[in-house]
Amino acid sequence: MKHLIDAKELSPEYVERLIASAEDIISAPGSYSDRCRGRILATLFYEPSTRTRLSFESAMLGLGGQTLGFSSADSSSASKGESVADTIRMVSCYADICAMRHPKEGSALVASMHSGIPVINAGDGGHQHPTQTLTDLMTIHSVKKKLDGLSVGLCGDLRFGRTVHSLIHALSKHKNNSFILVSPDELKIPDYLREEMIKGGVRFTETEDLKQSIKEMDVIYMTRVQKERFFNEEDYVRLKDSYILNRQKLSQAKKDLAVMHPLPRVNEISTEVDDDPRSVYFDQARYGRFVRMALILDLLS
Ligand code: NCD
Repeated sequence: MKHLIDAKELSPEYVERLIASAEDIISAPGSYSDRCRGRILATLFYEPSTRTRLSFESAMLGLGGQTLGFSSADSSSASKGESVADTIRMVSCYADICAMRHPKEGSALVASMHSGIPVINAGDGGHQHPTQTLTDLMTIHSVKKKLDGLSVGLCGDLRFGRTVHSLIHALSKHKNNSFILVSPDELKIPDYLREEMIKGGVRFTETEDLKQSIKEMDVIYMTRVQKERFFNEEDYVRLKDSYILNRQKLSQAKKDLAVMHPLPRVNEISTEVDDDPRSVYFDQARYGRFVRMALILDLLS
């Protein structure tokens, strides 16, 4: 049984294959419209989502399959105290594949251990979000024509931002990438990730200064400060607007910088940047559907 739980599973070869498959789907969607006829995708979302859940559902519908699920913990038996292990046993009787988002780190892994169907981690707490990484990689590949030799800036909430952790894992597997990690001291990457990067010989620098460091970047990945992971409102309010990318800051950057954001955006990127040809965050959202179609096909094969 194949699952996708951790971005460490995304080898360069596998990513290349999924991107090629997603590109093929974009070029000939009609030839895929029956590929999952009779199959059911369950979306088990214990946490809010717009893009991820809808793009998964749209992906399955585009493949001729059907979907069922819930979009909040309140509307599932989790509110009665049911464990993830028990829920996934049930869902395995009703669906052929599932995408799960849960506030607790490790939930998708636990689900996969008790599941009779492929489990896709659609975000587990502040840990990982590997399918966002797939759409991020497809976006980078579309603008840079490569996934190696890049200076990648990640800015904002690097501590709780699961998309950041997954993207670092996946891009570290490609040759000669280096990372510029821009955050306030309290929102630096978790220690375990820093240790893994050092151990793996990954090149990175940590700074609080976006204005200077943006000049070096080929890609900048802005992130939302993850309000839902904070213990107190006061800290969130103090840190939430630490970095706001605007036209003026962007004027210091390379002419071919790719400006990315997993969305939803709060204030991290000023809307005046939306029209800049370097902004690709809405492309990320668009590619999400196709790369998830490719993933569903692969996991069901
Ligand atoms: C991200 C997430 O859920 O981690 N959203 C998404 O899936 N595109 C980013 C975020 O919520 O800030």
